[in-house]
Amino acid sequence: MSDSQSRPKYRTSRVAVIGASGYGGLQTIRLLQQHPEFEITYLGGSRSVGKRWNELCPFIELAGNPQICSTSADQISDHADFAILSLPNGVASQLVPQLLRKNVRVIDLSADYRYRSLEIWKQNYVKENLEYNRDDSQLCSEAIYGIPEWNSELISKAKIVAAPGCFPTASLLPLLPFLKQGLIEFEGLVIDAKTGTSGGGRSPKEHLLFAESSESISPYAVIGHRHTSEIEQMAREVSGQQIKLQFTPHLVPMVRGLLSTVYAKLRDPGLTADDCTTVLKALYRNDKTVEVLPVGVYPATKWVRNTCKAMISVQVDTRTSQLVLMSVIDNLVKGQAGQGIQCLNLMAGLPQETGLPLNVFYP
Ligand SMILES: NC(=O)c1ccc[n+]([C@@H]2O[C@H](COP(=O)([O-])OP(=O)(O)OC[C@H]3O[C@@H](n4cnc5c(N)ncnc54)[C@H](OP(=O)(O)O)[C@@H]3O)[C@@H](O)[C@H]2O)c1
Repeated sequence: MSDSQSRPKYRTSRVAVIGASGYGGLQTIRLLQQHPEFEITYLGGSRSVGKRWNELCPFIELAGNPQICSTSADQISDHADFAILSLPNGVASQLVPQLLRKNVRVIDLSADYRYRSLEIWKQNYVKENLEYNRDDSQLCSEAIYGIPEWNSELISKAKIVAAPGCFPTASLLPLLPFLKQGLIEFEGLVIDAKTGTSGGGRSPKEHLLFAESSESISPYAVIGHRHTSEIEQMAREVSGQQIKLQFTPHLVPMVRGLLSTVYAKLRDPGLTADDCTTVLKALYRNDKTVEVLPVGVYPATKWVRNTCKAMISVQVDTRTSQLVLMSVIDNLVKGQAGQGIQCLNLMAGLPQETGLPLNVFYP
């Protein structure tokens, strides 16, 4: 074996997971554990500081059973090249500027750096804005929106990547190709989406109690859900048009999974479901994380459970010229931690799907 063959292709990178005890942190740790190129070298948190990993999570073994530490930028930078932050909205903004000054590259799973403008974040995250005094508008404009199938070049060079929200991920993946090619009207877009209860995180909330959410389905935040503006921002960037759309989320009694159904008016009433499927297939032909289903096959959340894959399907109602896009993801993997690791892969010079689960255990 030659020298170059015996050397590993990529140097193992050290990764800190901050917010390790929460759902996003847990998934991140689980996914990194089986990753060939990354090593978990620091776990951070708040209430869980001082606890050993197996006290928080006896069902996932982690080498050395590390202790959860504080979110000190000095300590994190001593131990890690990259930090994945899975924290409540607002909290990351207090840590990211310090981490970047210490040359730690960051993937943030919260909404803190998803908007190009800090002002838009302040308008949408009103409660968090009152709690956290932010003046990092420069960083907001520098952060890269971490939708790997669309922004891979920029993500690979970024210092700070903001992974998209779960609803934006599921909705934008099928919608963007049609906006980019100008195949649909820019007005009258409607997104109707359903999520499982883990979308609300691990900290207790009354409406997520089993007695409240089981055997029931309900809409919430019907007008002005915060993800509306995030979807609109990316839709505007890809289409070059101001876009105002209707987005209604629903809570459904399942733990994981998210289904987004997007309705749009076709500009050319002659386009068929086959034509539209070809559009999607052409755009995602090199992306292992997006699967376009044949016409007439409609995706189910169970088909992507625990995977970092989006499954999408398209149908056309020729009576109404309506395009119907259906998209499913696992909100905690493709919609959160897995997508964060897709971005981490790109930042480390790896193919974006490296080490990520793409095949489901079914049912
Ligand atoms: N759940 C989803 O489907 C989903 C999808 C996409 C994006 N997101 C976003 O991802 C982020 C994390 O969501 P999640 O569902 O994983 O939340 P979660 O389960 O509630 O976990 C939150 C984590 O943040 C830590 N934390 C809270 N306050 C902190 C502080 N002041 N300093 C340091 N650590 C602190 C907690 O640690 P301690 O236990 O130590 O306090 C916990 O580990 C959120 O911004 C969320 O909006 C969630």
